[in-house]
Amino acid sequence: MSSTRAWLTSLLAPVDDGLTRMREILGRQIEEPSAAVSDMTSHVERFRGKQLRGALVLLCGEATGNTTDEHAAVAAIVEMIHLATLVHDDILDGAEVRRRVACVNQRWDNQTAVLLGDFLYARAFALSTELSSRLCSRILSETTRRLCVGEIEQANRRYDFDMTQDEAEAICGAKTASLYAAACELGARYPGGNEEVGRQMYDLGWQLGLAFQIADDCLDLTGTTEEVGKSVGTDVEDGKITLPVLVAYQRASDDVRARMRDIFTAPDLEDRARLLVEQGHLGAGLEVARLRARTLVAQASERIANLPESPARRSLEGIAEFVLERSF
Ligand code: IPE
Ligand code: IPE
Ligand code: MG
Ligand code: MG
Repeated sequence: MSSTRAWLTSLLAPVDDGLTRMREILGRQIEEPSAAVSDMTSHVERFRGKQLRGALVLLCGEATGNTTDEHAAVAAIVEMIHLATLVHDDILDGAEVRRRVACVNQRWDNQTAVLLGDFLYARAFALSTELSSRLCSRILSETTRRLCVGEIEQANRRYDFDMTQDEAEAICGAKTASLYAAACELGARYPGGNEEVGRQMYDLGWQLGLAFQIADDCLDLTGTTEEVGKSVGTDVEDGKITLPVLVAYQRASDDVRARMRDIFTAPDLEDRARLLVEQGHLGAGLEVARLRARTLVAQASERIANLPESPARRSLEGIAEFVLERSF
C-alpha cells in the first residue's frame, strides 16, 4: 500500500464500522437478478474508490455528536449518487480508466453506461425513501439537480477562454462541492437536527469539495494514469477550461494564448495536456490554482477547529490536508 493510501486508511479509522455497514448496504441496494446488470454492478462495487463522501457523512455525524442508526444508509446513498455521476461523467469525458480498471463505457459501451448510471440514481433514491426522515431525499435530490447543472454548464463552456475565474469556480462548486457540502450537512443534521450546525458543516463541505476539484483539475494536467488511477488529460482533450488553464491563459502574452488555443483545438494532436505542461504554458496557472485550493482548505480547517476535540475531528483535519496532498 502506498503511503498516501495508508494515510487515508488511518484517517477513516474512527468510522471503520460505519463504513463497513455502508458498503454492505450499498452492495445490497444494487443487487439485481439480471445477470447482465449484476455483472456491471459487481464491477463498480468491487473497484471501490476512496469513499470520502460517505466517510464525511459518518465523520461529520461523529464530530458534531449527531449519530443515528441510519447514518450508514445515508452514507451509502451519497456514495451511490457519487458513483452514478462517475459512470455518466466517464461517458462525457470519453474516459478509459477509472479506479485503476476499465470504465463502464469502455468495458461495455456508452449506451450501457447511461443506463447503469440511471440505475444507480434510481437505487439511491429508492433507498432514501425508506428512511424515517425525508431530509436525505430532499437534500440529495436538490444536490443531484445542481450536479447535473454543473456538468451541463461545463459542457456548454467548452473551449471558452473568456470564462471568468468565478465562473470556472461556480462549475466546480455545482458539480463537486455540492455533494461534499450535502454529505457534511447530512452527517451533522440528519434526521432533522440543528439547522445552524447543518449550515456550518455545509460550508465546511463546500470548501473541501471546491479544493478537492481544483486539486483534481491540477492532477488531470500533471498526473499519470498509473498514479491517479483514472484517465488523465481528458479535460484538455475535451476542451474543458479548468482553473489552472484559465489563470495561465489570462496571464499569458497574445502569442502564448494563441499557442494554447492551438494545443486545445488543432486536429490530431497527441497528449495535449502534456504539451501544455512541457511547453511551459501553465506555470503560474498551476501555482495559483494550488494556492486557491490551499486557501479554501485553510478556511475549512478553521471551521473544523471550532468542533469539540474528538477522533472524528482529528480525521476531518487530516482529510482537509489529504485533499491537497493526494495523488489519487
Ligand atoms: C472523482 O472523485 C470525481 C471528482 C469530483 C474529481 P473521487 O476522486 O473522490 O473518486 P473515487 O470515488 O475516489 O474514485
Ligand atoms: C467530474 O469532474 C465531477 C463529477 C461530478 C463526476 P471530473 O471530470 O474532473 O472528474 P474525474 O477527473 O473524471 O474523476
Ligand atoms: Mg471526468
Ligand atoms: Mg478530473
